[in-house]
Amino acid sequence: MSYLDTLNVKCVNELAIREKRVFIRTDFNIPVDEKGVVTDMDRIMQTVPTIKHALEHNARVIIASHTGTPECGDRDAAYSLEPFAAALATILEKDIYFFEDCVGMGAQQMVRDLKPGQILVLENLRFSEDEKKNSSSFARELAKMCDIYINDAFGVSHRKEASVNALPMLIDTKGMGFLMKKEIEELSKLIGLKRGDGFYSIIGGSKVSDKISIIRPMLEVVDRIMIGGEMAFTFLAAKGVKLGRSRIEESCLSVAKEIIKGAEARGVELLLPVDHVIANSIDSTETAVCSNSEFPSEMTAFDIGPETLKLYISKLEGCRELLWNGPVGAFEHDAFAKGGIGLAKAVVNTKAHTVAGGGSSAALMKKAGVKDKFSHISTGGGASLEFLRNNTLPGIDVLK
Ligand code: 3PG
Repeated sequence: MSYLDTLNVKCVNELAIREKRVFIRTDFNIPVDEKGVVTDMDRIMQTVPTIKHALEHNARVIIASHTGTPECGDRDAAYSLEPFAAALATILEKDIYFFEDCVGMGAQQMVRDLKPGQILVLENLRFSEDEKKNSSSFARELAKMCDIYINDAFGVSHRKEASVNALPMLIDTKGMGFLMKKEIEELSKLIGLKRGDGFYSIIGGSKVSDKISIIRPMLEVVDRIMIGGEMAFTFLAAKGVKLGRSRIEESCLSVAKEIIKGAEARGVELLLPVDHVIANSIDSTETAVCSNSEFPSEMTAFDIGPETLKLYISKLEGCRELLWNGPVGAFEHDAFAKGGIGLAKAVVNTKAHTVAGGGSSAALMKKAGVKDKFSHISTGGGASLEFLRNNTLPGIDVLK
């Protein structure tokens, strides 16, 4: 029996949705540029199969999402979902209604006016402080517009927020969208692995504090962890390495030491960069390479160096399952993209089942041209880590 079977959550295609008001929680947490144009369509594209399915079944489709974390209270154009409604209209080649609030009489009237096969996009849920508070009264307001609740927002399902958690508790007919199903199917392949199964992990990103909660439990199951990105500097500092002006999290030094010791005690190989691509500033195109032992005091590291890349590639040997979370360098700048791109290309050349999580990891894989070669790229960074830690999420539990 697969993990999904044991979950007992229905998928949208198993529910009778015809002509019903189908409320789809999506995750459109993507920046828009200064002209108000959505910068990355991938996340939207991934929810399109669920939306199309609902439309093909003549449902009245209501789309709700957050984007960013705006100041609550006022509607702030920088965080409006209106550009997302426009993007969706282009993708679906269809008129889409948009309403400037997500609850209240006006929104309810718009929903009442929806005909089968029409779509309404509601305004950013997080304009109301009640969304983040998981308020049941706010959820009751949302529930007034909903016969059937579908969660296709894996990326935010680790948040106990009203549209993700309190709302589905009020709805009898509910389930997951196709994106959510794919996320659960792929990520659950990593559940139950144990040491010796060839489970390796590449962890990057800027903060140790963001990743502690996943690195600790990971020490119990993985064989090898390769660390990169800014967070590697804190681990190196914990070992007494001085890396000039590279940012370290002083408050996490003791945790980093504890993780290093924990890995040693369990026989987990924890690898740290041995050299770095360094520069005066992130905008600098003049770069140099230096090892841990000869780091100039006025410089900052922005990418793993060539020796580290060679080492990490050689350490992919024997990998059967790989989880990659967070970039290993400031890859958005071409001068600091070689490490991440080189490692990503090597990863997809292994025979391993490869999973990457989070928006910036996805952007790195795209830049490396290997996005389609990964077994799965999760739309959720935090959500995928928390799913692996707890084997469920607050937004999944409530769909049963
Ligand atoms: C994400 O993009 O990771 C999700 O939408 C969650 O966003 P949040 O971290 O603002 O809650």
